[in-house]
Amino acid sequence: MKGQPLEWRDGRLRILDQTRLPHRQVWLEMDGYRDVAVAIKEMRIRGAPAIGVAAAYGIALGARDIAAGDREDFLKELDGVCREMAATRPTAVNLFRSVARMKATAVGEKDVLQTRKALRAEAERIHQEEVEASRRLSFLGAELLNDGDTVLTHCNTGALAAPGYGTAGGVVLAAWEQGKKIKVLADETRPYLQGARLTCWELKQAGIPCTLITDSMAGYFLGQGKVNCVLVGADRIAASGDVANKIGTYGLAVLAAENGVPFYVAAPVSTIDLSTPSGDKINIEQRDPREVTHFQGRRVAPAGVEAANPAFDVTPHTYVSAIITERGIAREPYVTRLKALLSPSLRGA
Ligand code: MRU
Repeated sequence: MKGQPLEWRDGRLRILDQTRLPHRQVWLEMDGYRDVAVAIKEMRIRGAPAIGVAAAYGIALGARDIAAGDREDFLKELDGVCREMAATRPTAVNLFRSVARMKATAVGEKDVLQTRKALRAEAERIHQEEVEASRRLSFLGAELLNDGDTVLTHCNTGALAAPGYGTAGGVVLAAWEQGKKIKVLADETRPYLQGARLTCWELKQAGIPCTLITDSMAGYFLGQGKVNCVLVGADRIAASGDVANKIGTYGLAVLAAENGVPFYVAAPVSTIDLSTPSGDKINIEQRDPREVTHFQGRRVAPAGVEAANPAFDVTPHTYVSAIITERGIAREPYVTRLKALLSPSLRGA
């Protein structure tokens, strides 16, 4: 598979540094769990499922490096590793689900050696499950796209964000592989430019026609009838169907509704969080205002100006035409449909 965000081979983890893309492909060697935590915080690896997978491998690395031979001490130290990993970014639920799964795996084992082995295996399982989920949801979602459609996307939702095929980007790729001539309008996604840097890079590699637009051009193209659907990913979907995703998603959903264009969300079920009843309960990451006041390290706003930088927003479920998952495509009423999709319930939920 091309364009994967991380590689695990013989107990070693390498992460493709997404802050260097599209100009350079730099693979970072992760020497221990702290390297992984920093890579997540600094968005060298990002996107909800990719964060979840990286965190699981990070915990496996942490377990490898705990010196304690006594099981009680080992578990106590492992708890600290899990806590550090969980503190990296607050919004993507995949991170917390992975941490919970890794903790539960450790508790179920008898001795330290066995626990380390089980944690490695569990991380690989989480990775494999995400790859398979992304492939399945991509091909299920492709049925919603027609030959010749123009799809408006936000942020980066390809394999870099979700190992395997991706989420929304995976749906586009699967439709393309089915022979549908899809065109993509990729918005740049201020302030971190995941759309301009990463989505355009992935689409170019796949040979899928892509036009880059600034975020503020979306209404222009939707208003001109140039867009057949808006297709985005998610970082956390509440039980109500409210969707937390990259800042700017809510605006796109409102514009889509105003222009009678469907607004689709693609996400694996590991992104659905039934324990969060509605979107207003989702913890929205607030990032460094420098990402707004500066552009590629250079100040563009006057010194001393205040800047806000919420990294995500919440789109109310009433704007969501469908949620595409590997277990099926859900529509309103999401409260019952999402519950049904998650039954039997997921581990780490
Ligand atoms: O801040 P990021 O780049 O991690 O945000 C990523 C997104 O918002 C994606 O749209 C989301 O994770 C879904 S795609 C896997």
